[in-house]
Amino acid sequence: MEVVVTTDRKPTPEMVAEAEKLAEKLGVPLVKRRHNTINAIKKRFGKNVLVVNGDLTLTLHTLKGQKLFFHPGLFKIRLLNYLAGGKEAMIEAMALKEGETVLDCNLGLAQDALMAAFVSKREVVGVEKDPVIYEIVKRGLERYRPEGKLKVADFAFKLVKPVLGDNYEFLKSQPDNSYDVVYFSPMFIKPKWHCSVMSPFREVAVKDFVSPETLKEAERVARKRVVIKVNRGVKELFPFLEDYEVQGSSTNVEYLYKEVK
Ligand SMILES: C[S@@+](CC[C@H](N)C(=O)[O-])C[C@H]1O[C@@H](n2cnc3c(N)ncnc32)[C@H](O)[C@@H]1O
Repeated sequence: MEVVVTTDRKPTPEMVAEAEKLAEKLGVPLVKRRHNTINAIKKRFGKNVLVVNGDLTLTLHTLKGQKLFFHPGLFKIRLLNYLAGGKEAMIEAMALKEGETVLDCNLGLAQDALMAAFVSKREVVGVEKDPVIYEIVKRGLERYRPEGKLKVADFAFKLVKPVLGDNYEFLKSQPDNSYDVVYFSPMFIKPKWHCSVMSPFREVAVKDFVSPETLKEAERVARKRVVIKVNRGVKELFPFLEDYEVQGSSTNVEYLYKEVK
């Protein structure tokens, strides 16, 4: 994804220093905010604009006018349902128990990783290929302070460990049987519904689906299960998913899983 970095209006020296560091790290231009609007910066550079906010978190303003920033909204809804009913579709598909370890191969905004960390109470390593999304989620996890009903999940934010990289390359570097569950949630193929959380993702995220080579590595690295979140009907499109079981949910989402023991 192509971006330029700037700060929110009236930046403090800390925000400017952070923006400089970030632009250098990403190898992209740093734009002084001054009186420029985000739209003016987009027009001038023809790129997405990554803004360092007052609390040093990041907001991505996409070229199509969407905003991507860290917020645990979907995690909160799932967590509250889980706490009320003791069940959650992804957790069921993982057959996840306290003490087990999860490798999340598509970290995104870490909603799935947070859910896994909450239940397992163990570190969840999350691999993200896009450097901008990685920076947004890394800072979000570090700085987000859960309030109200989300306070019970405070520890989960500290257990998710973002890693920048390609999931296939990361899996190749891992020993056999090194995580209980290896999990994928690639971008949905031809989604039929609108989701305001995923919409900015569709514009800017990396759209790799799982490949047979990646799955082979995942099945080597997993001790217990490999789980893939897809939209309904996707399994039939890919013969290499033949030996994966399907677990439906109340939505259009399906979890495909395979026992690897
Ligand atoms: C649908 S989103 C994941 C949502 C995430 N599980 C959550 O709960 O917020 C897919 C993410 O995987 C990332 N991605 C795509 N291909 C990847 C790859 N080969 N390796 C690592 N990350 C990848 C995308 O950039 C995107 O952020």
